[in-house]
Amino acid sequence: MNLRLGVNIDHVATLRQARGGHEPEPVAAALLAQSAGAQGITVHLRSDRRHIQDRDLRVLKEVLAIPLNVECAATPEALEAIVPFRPSWVTLVPESREELTTQGGLDAIFLQGMLRPVIRELRSADIRVSLFVDPVLDQVKMAAKLEADAVELNTGTYSDLPMDSDATLELGRIRDAARLGSRLGLRLLAGHGLNLQNVGPIAAISEIEELNIGHSLIGRAVLVGLERSVEEMLAAMAEARP
Ligand code: PXP
Repeated sequence: MNLRLGVNIDHVATLRQARGGHEPEPVAAALLAQSAGAQGITVHLRSDRRHIQDRDLRVLKEVLAIPLNVECAATPEALEAIVPFRPSWVTLVPESREELTTQGGLDAIFLQGMLRPVIRELRSADIRVSLFVDPVLDQVKMAAKLEADAVELNTGTYSDLPMDSDATLELGRIRDAARLGSRLGLRLLAGHGLNLQNVGPIAAISEIEELNIGHSLIGRAVLVGLERSVEEMLAAMAEARP
């Protein structure tokens, strides 16, 4: 199975919102990432609209040839804003106003009663649903029980490990969660904190079909350009894939 790269362009919208104008245009960034070989575009429509706006969803959906994945909290307001645009995927994430970025995975076990109707509504609108969960077997089992299409395994703990530390344990958790998810019929994605230095061992897990990467790609794009940044990441992923 080929490993796909989903590029998260939220940071481009953050820069735009810093001045409240039109530059830089996140849609242009999405098109550049697409032409550099990215196989998906991800945006997080946060309830405070701090970066991506509803208008971005509409335009992205119109112009992209690759799948659009929209991250959001599992709330009626988020669904109302997103469902009309029919993105290919919705990824349900935990969201709090104070956080700088998504902190930890969804507790699908605790939230099962709330998640079930949300997943059903999205799927009946022909939108595939992914749950962003920590690499914990019971969370993956619950995602399958709730009939999600996929789980995105949170690689945040792995990514936060100091450079010279032993990642065996954390990689083992991610690998075990990926194997279980695949056995249960879920599609497997992973992401959070991945960069050119740490992507290899995650890309090597054969059950994982897509990585969602934002911060490091856009951070490097500021220095070398977005197309080169995406191409370098695709090369690092391809090199690591068995
Ligand atoms: N996956 C999810 C669910 C996220 O919320 C984020 C951050 O927006 C990412 C992946 C990408 O993480 P990063 O920006 O650290 O690459």
